[in-house]
Amino acid sequence: MDMMNFLNEATTRYPAAISFAPGRPHEGLFDNEQIFRFLHDYLDYLAAQGNSPASIHSAMHQYGPTAGQICDIIADALWQEEGLRVSPRSIVVTVGAQEAMILVLRALMAGSDDVLLVSSPCYVGITGAATVLGVRVVPVDEGVGGLSSARLETVVTAQRAKGRRVRALYVVPDYANPSGTTMPVDTRRSIVEFAARENLLVIEDSPYRLISPGPRLPTLKSVDSHRAVVQIGSFSKTLFPGVRLGFAVADQIVVDDAGNKSLLADELAKIKSMVTLNTPTLSQAVVAGALLSSAGRISEISAGASAHYDRSMKRTLECLELHLPTPRRAELEVQWNEPSGGFFITMTVPFIADNEALQRSAKDFGVLWTPMSYFYPGGGGSRSIRLSISSLSETEIDEGVARLTRFIEAERNVRRAPVTTTSPAMVALRAQQP
Ligand SMILES: Cc1ncc(COP(=O)(O)O)c(C=O)c1O
Repeated sequence: MDMMNFLNEATTRYPAAISFAPGRPHEGLFDNEQIFRFLHDYLDYLAAQGNSPASIHSAMHQYGPTAGQICDIIADALWQEEGLRVSPRSIVVTVGAQEAMILVLRALMAGSDDVLLVSSPCYVGITGAATVLGVRVVPVDEGVGGLSSARLETVVTAQRAKGRRVRALYVVPDYANPSGTTMPVDTRRSIVEFAARENLLVIEDSPYRLISPGPRLPTLKSVDSHRAVVQIGSFSKTLFPGVRLGFAVADQIVVDDAGNKSLLADELAKIKSMVTLNTPTLSQAVVAGALLSSAGRISEISAGASAHYDRSMKRTLECLELHLPTPRRAELEVQWNEPSGGFFITMTVPFIADNEALQRSAKDFGVLWTPMSYFYPGGGGSRSIRLSISSLSETEIDEGVARLTRFIEAERNVRRAPVTTTSPAMVALRAQQP
């Protein structure tokens, strides 16, 4: 949290800096009138379904069912969009994916020996939720090729040897935040099989999937025939984050001490009733309208956003190539991955990318980024940064990459300066020259 506060402070303190830091959607994609259209679509749908004016009134204004009032519409959308058949009863509509994470962790993590594994580097929302709930987090290193079931197995074995119970693994399989990595199909299958065999759940969170171009790999949930995957959904990137709407698909069978069976979704709803009572009906109405108007395929509504982010990603990668062609890259010891979607690029840099470096970058070069070390729960990532392409215009991307290049060159020069012949004052002076 302190790290994020530092980043927010730096953003406020250097307002002229071009920021590759925030993972926010591009503001130019928002449309006020569309919200009203979606609301009307939902009202028309309720009327066409034969609901009385009084029950429509209640659906818009009243407290609603804790598990949500649009579970059937979301279930249909999962079928239309992903070919995934789930019962509406296994869905809980939540206040963003973030609430779904809290509910799932609260339901699964019962004892002090329970462990949540996270693929590392890892989205801070899940580690934050774990911190708030006092859940023990153990990282599984993503490595260069992404998470592997072999690495997962090693960590599970080591945890069990310590007497711990590994309950779940959290993954972002498509265009991950922060690494930008996408999990290959084989890995998806082997991780799901491993989880089913070893009796742990996979928590799948994939908010960038439907705002990315090109063919989509199957979700982990859709290759899961063992109910080993709890899928978390979010409408923050496909629609807009202010709608604060997400969901969990939790079709696992839970048996209580008396032998009574229920679905994990029922457990989540019980917890939710003590957290937010129900997800705002107004937000559910907007999302329902969006899903109905696209016949369950929200990717059709977010097609403009996907095209925009695709252009921004390609532009950023082209600019990096232009400013840092291969020989120069090797000289400077810089590398980056080339995601084909999502918001994030990871870059390795020839200096310690900590808060001090970020401060120098913002103050002296007018460019912000996020230290990757923020995303490593077990430590690491000190020489890499996350670049987010989501909120910048093309002109800002061009100028931002030019500034970033000058910053990297300056940092590299400082690091290479012969200590015996250059005074600290000279080094500091040189570092300040753009
Ligand atoms: C991986 C991941 N999950 C979840 C979220 C947040 O989702 P929501 O806005 O629905 O809470 C984000 C937002 O940046 C994210 O990157």
